[in-house]
Amino acid sequence: MFEVVSNDKLAPEVHRIVIKAPRVAKARQAGQFVIVRCAEGAERIPLTIADADAAAGTVTLIIQTIGEGTREITALPPGQAIRDVAGPLGQATEIHKWGRVACIGGGVGTAVLYPLAKALADVGNEVTTIIGGRSEPYVILRNELAAFCKDVLVTTEDGSLGVKGLVTNVLKEMMADPLRRPHAVYAVGPVPMMGAVAELTRSEKIPTIVSLNPIMVDGTGMCGGCRVTVGGQIKFACVDGPEFDGHQVDFRELSTRQKAYLPHPCRAIAAAAAKDSK
Ligand SMILES: Cc1cc2nc3c(=O)[nH]c(=O)nc-3n(C[C@H](O)[C@H](O)[C@H](O)COP(=O)(O)OP(=O)(O)OC[C@H]3O[C@@H](n4cnc5c(N)ncnc54)[C@H](O)[C@@H]3O)c2cc1C
Ligand code: FES
Repeated sequence: MFEVVSNDKLAPEVHRIVIKAPRVAKARQAGQFVIVRCAEGAERIPLTIADADAAAGTVTLIIQTIGEGTREITALPPGQAIRDVAGPLGQATEIHKWGRVACIGGGVGTAVLYPLAKALADVGNEVTTIIGGRSEPYVILRNELAAFCKDVLVTTEDGSLGVKGLVTNVLKEMMADPLRRPHAVYAVGPVPMMGAVAELTRSEKIPTIVSLNPIMVDGTGMCGGCRVTVGGQIKFACVDGPEFDGHQVDFRELSTRQKAYLPHPCRAIAAAAAKDSK
């Protein structure tokens, strides 16, 4: 059992949960994740290790409530426990001394980005983060990132905070300025966002690393759930990733596979019909 030490709300539907997991806290490296099962028979939920404190034996998870599995975890008050925490899983981020790095986070992707940005700054890179959200309450970890980043630039779709528009607009400006042009880009967020970032940097030949979040089941490379095509080869994000060269990822296929798991329109029609008949 893994005790919940604290559970606070960072944004609407986004919780920061600190759990006791001493072995994971000791072994984890930036870019890795855990698979969590709230209780016996519950769904397996892959979650990035946002932060860890080896001395205290704790691990921080930042979780957006999406469906049943994430709702169960975010509802746990301090003192209660999570049944299983398997990990650390996945390959650690390859940290290079690039020079100037742009780290781009969309929505809850900023939680996944945080340990990467920190590890990049720790080896002496000049890190600028560009974080985006629907509106002000959805922009997370601004102050935490500002503690080690040269700049934290914010975009919101409705203009309620920072620059109105998309993270890619700000990246485009950075790339056009010789004094700010990044030597490498890391992007984490919705699949269309990561695809758009990779498209932007491809022609400029700026190395671009993306962290993929396909559906995962076993986390061991056996079930095939997290299959992605990278450079024409089949990879499994749980064991070969989750980070890959963004210029090599087949984003169109990834997007189609993500949508395959969305509730089928027939179910929505049936649900609406059932509601009408009441
Ligand atoms: C390596 C990895 C790291 C992740 N890190 C984090 C993290 O740090 N914080 C966080 O909030 N989330 C993270 N996720 C996403 C998280 O695992 C899913 O949101 C979660 O599994 C949804 O489970 P659920 O039971 O709540 O929803 P479900 O009922 O299973 O699904 C609800 C909806 O979400 C979609 N969905 C399910 N799983 C995923 C997924 N993996 N990616 C995108 N959409 C999905 C389904 O298609 C469905 O429409 C990560 C995913 C991966 C693969
Ligand atoms: S989650 Fe099963 S192969 Fe990756």
